[in-house]
Formats: sequence, C-alpha cells, structure tokens
Amino acid sequence: MYKKALKKRISTLLSKSSNISFEELSKICLGASPYLIFSLLDKKQKNLFRKDIQPPKAAMEKPLPAENPANYDWRFTKETCISLTEKIKGNNSKIALFGTPALYLELLKNKENVHLFDVNSLLINYLPKKTNVHIVDLNTHTFIEESDFDCVFMDPPWYVDHYQKWTSQANIITKAGGRIYVSLFQELLRPKAIKQRNKILSNFNLIGNVDIKKNFLNYITPQFEQEVFDYYNIPIYKNWRVADLIEIRNETELPKTKNPSIKDHWLRFEINNITISLYIVKNNSNEKIDVKSPYKNGDSLIKTISARNNAKKNANLITSRNQGYLVNGSKKLAIVLREIERGSTLKDVHEKCNLDLVEVRKVSNLLKDILT
Ligand SMILES: C[S@@+](CC[C@H](N)C(=O)[O-])C[C@H]1O[C@@H](n2cnc3c(N)ncnc32)[C@H](O)[C@@H]1O
Repeated sequence: MYKKALKKRISTLLSKSSNISFEELSKICLGASPYLIFSLLDKKQKNLFRKDIQPPKAAMEKPLPAENPANYDWRFTKETCISLTEKIKGNNSKIALFGTPALYLELLKNKENVHLFDVNSLLINYLPKKTNVHIVDLNTHTFIEESDFDCVFMDPPWYVDHYQKWTSQANIITKAGGRIYVSLFQELLRPKAIKQRNKILSNFNLIGNVDIKKNFLNYITPQFEQEVFDYYNIPIYKNWRVADLIEIRNETELPKTKNPSIKDHWLRFEINNITISLYIVKNNSNEKIDVKSPYKNGDSLIKTISARNNAKKNANLITSRNQGYLVNGSKKLAIVLREIERGSTLKDVHEKCNLDLVEVRKVSNLLKDILT
C-alpha cells in the first residue's frame, strides 16, 4: 500500500515536470526517504538523475557539534531559522525551545529571552549564554516552574511517544493563551505515517486551536545521512528534508503522561570534531572492552537512517559519520573515550584504565576506524 502510494506520487510528479532535480523530487514526496524513492525509479530515470550536479565539498562552518543520528540531529536551514524567528519573536516574551539548538542561536542573535532544553551535553561547549541552556532529558525531566513561558517551540524525534511526552511538557510550562509550535513529519515518511500523524494531531487538538503550515520547515542534510547517500550513489547533494509547522494556542491542561520507556541512555563524546554516542548499559562495569561490526562482513557504516533497521537498532556506539559498532564493556570504554577526549593518548589511558593488550588493540582499531 505504502510503496504503491509512493510510486504513484513519483510517476505523477515526473510526468508533470521533466526538468526536476532529484532533491526537488525528494522534497515533494511527503517525507519518503530518498533511497526508497530512488529504488522505485526505472533504470532510465535513475541514469538521468545520476547526471545531476556534483556534491559541494566546501568545508562548512560548524557553530554546533557534528550531528549524530543517536540524537536525531536534523538541523534547520539558516532560512528556516530566520523565518521561525520572525514568527515567534515577541515583545519581551519568554521563549522555551525543546531540542532546537540552531534556532536558539538565531533567537539569541535577535536578543530574545530564550531558553534551550536539550539532552546533548556537547552543546554546552558551543552555545553562548550558558545559564539559559538546560541539559535535560525531556522524556523524564520534571519541570518545577510551571506556566511561565509565552511560547514553546519543539522539534522532537519523529515518533508518537516522544511527541506525547514533549507536548505534555510544553503544556505544563506554557501560560494559558500562549503558543506551542511543533514540527510534524509528512504523510509518506514511513508506512504508518498517516495514522501516526492523526494520533499526534488529535493530541494537539486536546490542548487548543491547531493551525498547520505545510512545508514550512527545511532541514540540512547531515553528514551521517550524506554518507548513506554516497554509499548507494544516490544523487542528493543538497537539502531535501521538509516538515510541516503546527501552531497550537494553549487553552487546556493536558492530563499528565506516564513515565515513558524512552529514557535517554547515551553518553556523548567529541574527538577531532567527530561526535560519538555510546549507549550505557547498567551492570557491565566488569566486562572487558570488545568491539564488533553490526554486519557479518565487518563493515562499520550503517547503511540506513531508519530506526527500524536491525544494524541501526543493535549498534550501541554511533558516530556522526553514521558508523555503528556493537560494544561490550561500554562503561569501561566510556572512561577511555572521556580521557582521550580530554587529550590523553592511548598509552596514558592503557595504564590508568587498566586495559589488557587485547583491549588496547580493540580501542586502537576503533579509534583508527572512527577518526580516519
Ligand atoms: C530533530 S533534532 C532538532 C534540531 C533542530 N531542528 C535544530 O535545527 O536545532 C533533535 C534535537 O533534540 C534533542 N533531543 C533528542 N532527544 C532528546 C531528549 N530525550 N530530551 C531532550 N532533547 C533531546 C537532540 O539533542 C537534538 O538537538
């Protein structure tokens, strides 16, 4: 059903416009992933698109840590940050941002009274006005000051349980009559996207009046996604991801949601501008460090972005270049990575962390793979 609907949309779009680029086609496919779109093209269409422009390789200025798939780091384009700022800035209003560091930077430039709530601890090294940056897990955090914000803007991971928890949090801290803005994925993002959108929207309707602005939000293609496009030779060199903007006027108090099972267990490291997320499992402090590939052939590049894929699901160490590993002894490895992040060499760490020779070799190979 889902693939059929997508295929139909692609043929209609291509029959209407022969001059379209692959990015433009992906942008109007309602959130469907470019690799699925590409797989549904015939050979001739694929070859036509492959002739598209070459990727721009210019180094980009990095005002934020490299995007990591474990954080769902899809950042807004500059243009989207500017139009959102125009939309939500206000006279002395107090603005809360949930998971939107790029928008925080833009609103600060405009001297807005803005607070960021985000789980990514690496952000604190980058962002100005640190007293307004709150490193919290929005799925489990309890807000003490209630109903203080005139406006909340949030861009949660695109899953129903995250939306429910984050919306309930936004509802708690917004004044009556205040605004809640939310990003919403489009209808062909995944097979059950229409049903999931409806569920999310009906929850928004419980809070107040809902207004939908189609295609308002544009995202930068992060390096971890570009690595997958490059691997499959898919001609995406620019930004393709688009979402709708939902505006809710906060009128009713939502019933409090239960504690979710989606607690953030990642520790985050940054070495040579590469971000590394390591999932921490309790009670494995005595385990020796071991590192394996999520694939039988030993590859480390995870060849998808989809959270439903097994290699992605099983990997407990994920980098901003979309490399994934199955790690044992994650607590011990976390100590090692923190030391290396602070500038120690593997030789220093070897003694300090009591690593045996096999562990040293495993860590050394892992670092080589990640950093070169
Ligand atoms: C989809 S990205 C949104 C980025 C945004 N579009 C921007 O341009 O700034 C998700 C953001 O939510 C944050 N995040 C993910 N899970 C979180 C959680 N459980 N609690 C708080 N923040 C979280 C990530 O660290 C990341 O900054």
